[in-house]
Parts: sequence; structure tokens; C-alpha cells
Amino acid sequence: MHQPLVFRLLLIFIVLILNACGTSTEFDNQATEGYSNAEKQKFAKYMIQGKSLYTTYCSNCHQTDGEGLGKLYPPLAQSDYMLADKERTICLIKKGLTGEIEVNGISYEQAMPGLKNLSNLEIAEITTYVYNSWGHETGFVRVEEVEKALRNCE
Ligand code: HEC
Repeated sequence: MHQPLVFRLLLIFIVLILNACGTSTEFDNQATEGYSNAEKQKFAKYMIQGKSLYTTYCSNCHQTDGEGLGKLYPPLAQSDYMLADKERTICLIKKGLTGEIEVNGISYEQAMPGLKNLSNLEIAEITTYVYNSWGHETGFVRVEEVEKALRNCE
């Protein structure tokens, strides 16, 4: 039996309203599934801010797509080095990194300058962005995590 047209329109209308009120964003991923709506909103803000900061401070070397540049700049996308240790990443953003490292089986040995003027919030936003882009789904990196990591780095 056909539903009356008006009933169907009503259903469509309700679905549209629910979507508009929902707080799911384009940034949601596996790691954010259990977040409250407020957390999801905050996560989305971090991702937007993080992307803009990444463009300013990182993409010259690591490139917009996170693929790095030849033998000079290592990739962040799918980087085993980066994904293995979030605290180390937070430290190297602030303090820089020198010496030989290996990323996905390839060795790199240029110096990365530290970005000493970034605030802890900015570092949290950038770190959230790089850990939730290019297929990474690690969830929030909170300011408290950044504070803790920076207390512990050399
Ligand atoms: C001037 C170029 C330059 C800039 C700008 C730069 N990096 Fe790097 N980055 C490097 C180089 C070179 C290395 C490798 C250092 C080494 O060999 O010891 C590196 C290493 C890394 C690593 C560890 C290796 C890997 O690929 O996983 C991470 C993570 C990283 N950078 C993130 C960032 C982030 C985030 C920013 C922006 C806040 C940034 N970098 C800005 C040049 C840069």
C-alpha cells in the first residue's frame, strides 16, 4: 500500500531536521565515535585550526598532502615514526629534531627547526590535525597531553 504523499514528505522533513541538529561533522572518524556532541564540535574546531596552522608552519617541508619531499623531508602521512609516538611528535614540533632518523624504512638526516613560539593549544591543534588526516584516525590530542609531553621532553 502506498503511503500518502504528505506522510512521506513529513518523514523527509524530520530526517532533514535531525541531520541539521546533529553534531556529526566531516571530521568524525573511528576514534571520535564515543565523543559527546560537545567533544565532536571541539574536535572539528581543532581540525580546522590545525589545518590552517599546518599550512603555515609545516606544509612548506612536509607538503600539504603529508607526503614529504624526496630525501629531504620525511612524510607524515602513514609515517611509522610519527604514529609510533605522539609525545615524541609533540616534543619535536616545539624543540626541533636533528640527527638521522628512519621513516618507513628510509633514512633522513636534515635538521627540523623547533617552533618555539607555538602555544600549547596551537601544538594540540596541529597534532590533532596530523594524527587525524591522510587516513589516520587517532582522535583528540588535548592541551593537557601537550603540557604533559612537553614537561617530559629533553
Ligand atoms: C624546514 C622544514 C620543516 C618544517 C617547517 C617542519 N618540518 Fe618536520 N621535519 C623536517 C625534517 C628535515 C625532519 C627530519 C629530521 C631528522 O632527520 O632528524 C622532520 C621530521 C618530522 C617528524 C618525524 C618524522 C616523520 O616523518 O614522522 C614529524 C612528525 C614532523 N617533522 C612534523 C612536523 C610538523 C607537525 C611541522 C609543523 C609544525 C613540521 N614538522 C615542520 C623538516 C621540517
